[in-house]
Amino acid sequence: GSIELRELLLSRIKDVADYPKAGVVFKDITPLLADAEAFGALTDALVDLCVRHRVTKVVGLEARGFILGAPVAVRANVGFVPVRKAGKLPGATLGQAYELEYGTAEIEIHADALTPGDRVLVIDDVLATGGTAEASLQLVRRAGGEVAGLAVLLELGFLNGRERLAAELKDAPLEAL
Ligand code: PRP
Repeated sequence: GSIELRELLLSRIKDVADYPKAGVVFKDITPLLADAEAFGALTDALVDLCVRHRVTKVVGLEARGFILGAPVAVRANVGFVPVRKAGKLPGATLGQAYELEYGTAEIEIHADALTPGDRVLVIDDVLATGGTAEASLQLVRRAGGEVAGLAVLLELGFLNGRERLAAELKDAPLEAL
């Protein structure tokens, strides 16, 4: 959580105006992924969180949470579990619906992906309204896991996702790197 790390990461995230639609500023993390120093520093910081919070599973949220979470799981020597958009996982699943700006979406986890007592770090790239993260924390608990924390690369503070998540996070930390 050093200032140097924050500045390195921020310098590698590109604002793209009017994507995917007019009026939206998209946060493009591909320059960060393409930079070994920045991607490595981010991975190191997330691995530190795994160690500090005695994490036993990393849950990554489709799609960019897969990219960020997988190297963390390998380096932390714990398993990786994907949370996917509905209809993409082949086995028995638990699903959780959540509200979008217009309508609803649903995400799923394999019902047997977690072991009781697993301490889970949920990883995603961006916390916006918090809907995706809130639903994923619910899925982790329903699948028998304990939420050790939620880690995102970037928090869009003006959307108040942190407040929306407060009840579901309980005492677990929300780390925005
Ligand atoms: C983006 C982002 C987060 C989510 C955050 O994913 O990667 O997962 O939205 O938004 P929220 O806090 O308002 O829920 P997106 O839905 O674009 O899916 P994708 O990564 O599969 O393209």
